[in-house]
Amino acid sequence: MSQSKRPAAILVIHGPNLNMLGKREPDIYGTDTLADIDQGLKALGETMNMDVETFQSNHEGAIVDRIQTGFGHIQGLIINPGAYTHTSVAIRDALLLLDVPIVEIHLSNIYRREKFRHKSMIAGIATGQISGFGAHGYTLALEALSKLL
Ligand code: DQA
Repeated sequence: MSQSKRPAAILVIHGPNLNMLGKREPDIYGTDTLADIDQGLKALGETMNMDVETFQSNHEGAIVDRIQTGFGHIQGLIINPGAYTHTSVAIRDALLLLDVPIVEIHLSNIYRREKFRHKSMIAGIATGQISGFGAHGYTLALEALSKLL
């Protein structure tokens, strides 16, 4: 009897202002909406036996809460913390709870932008970082997780 493996649960977290993708500074962040990105990730996940759940919040505490809810339930995490990338010890601490691969992703190349964006609170604890490939970076992030799992 063939046994199919249960899909890996992957959580994708989008931080503040990413709900405005498509309208927000399209020269920097592109014209894809967050719904486009989320649908693309769910469809790609199905082809790789991954169950992709997405979450967006403009609130730091809500992001911390969602990470904590994932504890013990998810096998991988993709996070674009938005501006909290550069400031949030709370999100970093919450991520330290998880014993699963974490991909930090940014649409823009944060190292080519203002100096305050060069520092990531998350990079030192993430498995890896993808920065500068626009919405395609999310595809790269999910593929990276599938290789690791
Ligand atoms: C971002 C880069 C951050 O500096 C910025 O605050 C964002 C988006 C990116 O995806 O390029 O909100 O994380």
